[in-house]
Amino acid sequence: MTDSQPRLVVLTGAGISAESGLKTFRDGDGLWENHAIEDVATPEAWVRDPELVLRFYDERRTQVRRAKPNPAHHALAELEQAGFDVRIVTQNIDDLHERAGSRDVLHLHGEILKARSSIDPRLLYPLPRGGIKLGDLCDKGSQLRPHVVWFGEAVPTYPHACDIVAEADLLLVVGTSLSVMPAAMLVDQAPVECPCILVDPKASHLSPRWVKALDRPASEGLPTLAEHWKRENRLWVPEWL
Ligand code: APR
Repeated sequence: MTDSQPRLVVLTGAGISAESGLKTFRDGDGLWENHAIEDVATPEAWVRDPELVLRFYDERRTQVRRAKPNPAHHALAELEQAGFDVRIVTQNIDDLHERAGSRDVLHLHGEILKARSSIDPRLLYPLPRGGIKLGDLCDKGSQLRPHVVWFGEAVPTYPHACDIVAEADLLLVVGTSLSVMPAAMLVDQAPVECPCILVDPKASHLSPRWVKALDRPASEGLPTLAEHWKRENRLWVPEWL
């Protein structure tokens, strides 16, 4: 395929990793792995109890390392390997897209397998052996923290994500309730003529009318779509949607 190959932009959320055993945020009791979000995933929590926050992310990291990419992650990587122009913008902090083989992945909310400075979000570090401990410092002398965007924090990669979505020929949204700003506004950056497909068991409830809803788990919906596109060697919205 050539440079003029139509571009598939994929916006993924927690739902795509659900079948790899990583929990979504808003399907249960409002808690994230038994913790109130404000106790573990906000700048205030970090000031109040950094040890708890570090322990919480150590546990999430262990889960991420044990998890394996599922057929939905693989379907996207295989489309890219088949020559399609695939750009992924993910709200997930896991590395399952990369482990499946996708090469163009922008993490809106950071990456749990990296550390960063608490005073300068641009200073990123590989994770210290055994995880981040109190006393592990960045080059500017501040405590290292998980490289994740907490609730209430700015999303530094958002402008880049907007540019990617603005160049989509087809927008595929997978496993996100689209309830967190500014990620939720990303779909509005797509060109007016760009079709959008949402793959989510609750797609019909979540999607505005202009979005084509595929009410299926990601591990079924994505391989089905990818097979169609690969068979015809083109991106289009199947007539059965
Ligand atoms: N396949 C596809 N979608 C699924 C599946 C599945 N197997 N299982 C659940 N879902 C859908 C749910 O129906 C829901 O719409 O995944 C979505 C998960 O929504 P959220 O839990 O709100 O996750 P997300 O949209 O990624 O949250 C955004 O909020 O907590 C913050 O920073 C965190 O990145 C996260 C952001």
